[in-house]
Amino acid sequence: MTDSATQFVSPLTFQALSGHPVHHELLNAEVENAMGHISLARWADILLIAPATANCIAKCSHGLADDLLSTLYLAANCPVYIVPAMNQAMWNKAVTQENIQKLQRHGVVMIGPEAGSQACGETGFGRMTEPEAIVDAIIGYSNPLLAGLKILITAGPTREALDPVRYITNRSSGKMGYALAQAAALAGAEVTLISGPVQLAVPDKVLCIQIESAAQMYEAVMANISNQAVFIGAAAVADYSPMQVQAGKIKKQGAQIAINLQKTPDILASVANLPHPPFTVGFAAETHDLEAYAKHKLAAKNLDMIAANWVGQAEGGFDSHENALQVFWQDQQKSLPMMAKTDLAQQLLALIAQRFHEKNTI
Ligand code: C5P
Repeated sequence: MTDSATQFVSPLTFQALSGHPVHHELLNAEVENAMGHISLARWADILLIAPATANCIAKCSHGLADDLLSTLYLAANCPVYIVPAMNQAMWNKAVTQENIQKLQRHGVVMIGPEAGSQACGETGFGRMTEPEAIVDAIIGYSNPLLAGLKILITAGPTREALDPVRYITNRSSGKMGYALAQAAALAGAEVTLISGPVQLAVPDKVLCIQIESAAQMYEAVMANISNQAVFIGAAAVADYSPMQVQAGKIKKQGAQIAINLQKTPDILASVANLPHPPFTVGFAAETHDLEAYAKHKLAAKNLDMIAANWVGQAEGGFDSHENALQVFWQDQQKSLPMMAKTDLAQQLLALIAQRFHEKNTI
């Protein structure tokens, strides 16, 4: 417990209700030895901080260690899960988001926050994930169905060069693909990530191959696809690329200019149609007729599963922290409601792992 936590509930109450010892002081020679925080950090299999305030997150992201909890975080070598809980404006503040991203770059897994009405009377993202859902998330991250599985994931946008200084691209941030890679690696899968240019750090224990264009992504996928059990095409691959890349910078001309584009190779369909394809999962980002387009792609590209999401809406989709997915396979479907992409990744992977094993035991 932090000092603030003890203002809400006394350590004695917490101890009586939980039936477990409660630690809250960094240096208390009477109760524990002076190095108690180090032995606590070594003892733990995981460190879960719930609820984590904006202050606690800021301290962890800056390496401050002025109380037991922040010191534990610094001393811990085990997987760390943080469950944010704060006012929606504090959550949306740029500095909080920077702190969150920094912790994620350092391998910390975020669970939530959820959207809804808050203790302060406001509505938005910042509610702590319910305790049962936190437990489910942690169990999901150690999903034994994923352990040892070889998974190839594409993520991010591609860049299609027009000339040495310009390119065509899209709004993909890569967050979904990177969240999938992180969740799969945490569960013990052997993950290769083929990524377009993004502002994200490669998750721990993930082999990342950086590419720029759709053609390069195709080459990298095909060079690494053999022996993969699962392929997830989360990248927003450009559908068309300029027919010619000009050697010099294109000069300003008349009022209009035309660029001829040609279709890029469909990486997902190419993988799904290999003689011995892995379990192949595609994404479908749509502005309309989501279900019809997703089901059509599932069949037309010969996929095992497709995860469809709306784009161009007020919330979710490209470049957003959260998203909702409608997942289709065979003649079945499942809705994964609006939630943090990190949580969504874990739930989608659980579904993929379950279907993969069902398919391979038939
Ligand atoms: O057909 P559409 O582009 O909407 O399909 C989206 C899915 O196909 C995504 O999973 C995306 O990664 C994949 N894709 C691909 N290669 C392309 C275009 C899309 O792998 N050239």
